[in-house]
Amino acid sequence: MVTIEPIYGWPGPERSDTIFAICNAVFGQMDHSKFYSRMREKHALFTLLAVENGEVVGFKTGYDLGDGVFYSWIGGVLEAYRRQGIARMLMLEQHAWCRENGYRLIRTKTYNQWKGMLILNLQCGFDITGTAQKDSGRLQILLEKQLV
Ligand SMILES: CC(C)(COP(=O)(O)OP(=O)(O)OC[C@H]1O[C@@H](n2cnc3c(N)ncnc32)[C@H](O)[C@@H]1OP(=O)(O)O)[C@@H](O)C(=O)NCCC(=O)NCCS
Repeated sequence: MVTIEPIYGWPGPERSDTIFAICNAVFGQMDHSKFYSRMREKHALFTLLAVENGEVVGFKTGYDLGDGVFYSWIGGVLEAYRRQGIARMLMLEQHAWCRENGYRLIRTKTYNQWKGMLILNLQCGFDITGTAQKDSGRLQILLEKQLV
């Protein structure tokens, strides 16, 4: 059975390494120091871990942008655990926490490459609010969900 564990603020080195390992498994090699500094510096970081039999199999993290806006930054589920509703559980839990904590809007970004996430975002009430052409040539898709 999957359980969802919340972490408020900096998760500490051990949990951050676990999250970083999932990022690498899901997105390919990421820049360790960039990832760590963003985790450490962001105000009111809120992370959810999906845990099965003591193993972290997925996560979702984000932070406060001020003015009642929460930024859902990054998340993923290990391949062997996909299509079991874990990302949906993480998202619903994040949205409930945001509501309880007075946020009025959740903002996120994704790419066409991450279609599963895009589809789940739309299913869970996000609207596409814009796009940005990145230097890499990729089109970034901006989404927002109103909570109130
Ligand atoms: C996107 C991701 C987090 C989804 O995780 P998951 O636990 O498999 O998602 P869920 O099982 O909760 O899926 C919920 C719904 O989302 C949709 N969905 C999820 N993955 C999908 C896919 N690959 N293709 C189409 N729809 C998908 C489906 O509607 C699904 O419901 P269903 O299984 O009943 O059809 C996971 O595939 C992942 O880690 N991908 C790579 C990383 C990523 O995209 N991160 C986000 C970057 S912005």
